[in-house]
Amino acid sequence: MAPTTAAESVVLLTGGTSGIGRAAVRRLAATGATVVTVGRDRERGRAVAADVTAETPGRVEFRRVDLADQSAVRNLASAVDDEYDRLDALVHNAGLSSKERRETADGVELTLAVNHLAPYLLTHDLVDLLGATRGARVVVTASSVHRRGKIDLDDSEDLDALNSRSGYDALDAYARSKLANVAFTLELAERLRASARTEGVVANCVHPGFIPTTGLYRDVSWRAKLLTRLAGAVPGVGTDVEEGARRLVAVTTDDAYADRTGLYVGGDGPEQPSAAARDAALRERLWRLSAALVGVDPDWP
Ligand SMILES: NC(=O)c1ccc[n+]([C@@H]2O[C@H](COP(=O)([O-])OP(=O)(O)OC[C@H]3O[C@@H](n4cnc5c(N)ncnc54)[C@H](OP(=O)(O)O)[C@@H]3O)[C@@H](O)[C@H]2O)c1
Repeated sequence: MAPTTAAESVVLLTGGTSGIGRAAVRRLAATGATVVTVGRDRERGRAVAADVTAETPGRVEFRRVDLADQSAVRNLASAVDDEYDRLDALVHNAGLSSKERRETADGVELTLAVNHLAPYLLTHDLVDLLGATRGARVVVTASSVHRRGKIDLDDSEDLDALNSRSGYDALDAYARSKLANVAFTLELAERLRASARTEGVVANCVHPGFIPTTGLYRDVSWRAKLLTRLAGAVPGVGTDVEEGARRLVAVTTDDAYADRTGLYVGGDGPEQPSAAARDAALRERLWRLSAALVGVDPDWP
């Protein structure tokens, strides 16, 4: 997204109805961009679209989509592909943590489905539109929590492990999904670079900071809620949605990130992600399993 063409830019940002995403929608629309945003809550989504469109030079369009549903993700991609002839940035920001193990209609554990598989499938289905847009960017809201994530893909139980079938712990499932975000971004960056179809498309991920005031912590255990509140009260530990949105939007629009790819970016710029996220064999395996879970050919873009 070069600043000179900001007014023509089209951004698709998931999870713009609340928290970091809602603040990021406003910042993006302030550049004059058209922002298509999605979430499940129609009322909050319509309010964001109306308020931000009225108050900024940009335009915000809300679509009600449940990203846990793979057919809804496919429909979203095809609607964006039909309606727009460019996609300057695809920002995967929607995310959740679920206190109990829930399974989607597609038979996938909910945290994995929304936080990782939806970005995988949406990027897959929009990769040609991204490739056709000069300087397009893919940005993923990851987390420093990815450092405690484990993805054990050593045996035939791969899918079960990824799906938390062998025992569920909410924080482990969330951390695993955030590790998947970083591993996916790094693998995507390499693949985008290697494909003639996606010349110039970059992929980076962001840690927005620990922000205890968002909706992310609404479905965690009472113990986790208490710990989050306590940690948030310690000076210097937490930050706010504006800082999270600032980080996300910087990677999405700043010239400094236009030609950089495969980065994990924190508050002070690029950081080294965990060893697991950098493990090329794990990334490749995760890529193939993700393709199988959403029913696409893994050899893309
Ligand atoms: N807050 C933190 O401390 C923190 C730290 C590191 C990373 N993050 C990451 O930041 C991102 C944004 O989270 P947040 O903290 O701003 O939390 P939030 O206020 O709960 O926002 C989450 C957004 O995701 C959307 N979403 C959740 N499930 C969805 C689904 N099934 N389909 C469609 N949209 C869905 C929500 O929309 P609806 O409610 O309308 O469905 C909402 O707009 C997440 O990826 C999170 O993992 C947060």
